[in-house]
Amino acid sequence: MKIGIFDSGYGGLTILKEIRKLLPQYDYLYLGDNARAPYGSHSYEVIYRYTLESVEALLQRDCALVILACNTASAKALRTIQQNDLPRLGADRRVLGVIRPTVECVPTLTRTHHVGLLATPGTVNSGSYAMELHNIDPSLQLTALACPMWVPLVEYGEHNSAGADYFIRKRILQLMSVDPQIDTIILGCTHYPLLLPKIRRYVPDGVRVLSQGTYVARSLEDYLLRHPEMQVRLGTGASCRFLTTESAEKFSRAASVFMPGTYVEAEQIDL
Ligand code: DGL
Repeated sequence: MKIGIFDSGYGGLTILKEIRKLLPQYDYLYLGDNARAPYGSHSYEVIYRYTLESVEALLQRDCALVILACNTASAKALRTIQQNDLPRLGADRRVLGVIRPTVECVPTLTRTHHVGLLATPGTVNSGSYAMELHNIDPSLQLTALACPMWVPLVEYGEHNSAGADYFIRKRILQLMSVDPQIDTIILGCTHYPLLLPKIRRYVPDGVRVLSQGTYVARSLEDYLLRHPEMQVRLGTGASCRFLTTESAEKFSRAASVFMPGTYVEAEQIDL
């Protein structure tokens, strides 16, 4: 069986890349719901419905484990899917998100206990990061700021342009002016790693920026060590297939922005 990686679109490829770097032996099936992306500003009901349909598609295609690589889907749909839908869809399957693995590393990294979050409006408004951080360490203080322009900058290939600097600088200054004691900033969106060189340019010295792919990959490795019953079900042919709800050709072209040097042949599916 395979590990399914779901994202609203291309952004989850940044997570897939890190997972495959650490765990290259497994078989992967990536699904981007590009036809209905971006999810960032959709309502709870819509994100839940779209995510559930995507998870079902991956489970039907022999995924024993599905990672919601999308922060917005993790924030708004993960709990309901785990609690209400998974028992019906396959009690021996698992669906995991990206928020918990990301926040788990925060207590060891922050000294001031003041943490910033930059994410989509959907993720920020869900309050999921604040809740998870509070569960891990109630002394952590989170300031969250939505960056609605950042995903389109990446989607339209403008992330290296001079125009991108304006939007990135503006949000970082805003975040740091709300809480100047922030020493750790979580990038809570799949697209933001592509903006990292510019983000680092505007973040004050001494402030750490967390890009989540490596933390999600390490957490998956740890999960499989703790769950040998899942690990033994996974195929180890080191394969990776890509599905998209939009045109396959468009996906293949855009994927090269997220995974430079990798040729991606995608297949279009309807949900
Ligand atoms: N994948 C989404 C996330 O991580 C960003 C793109 C979108 O809004 O759909 O929140």
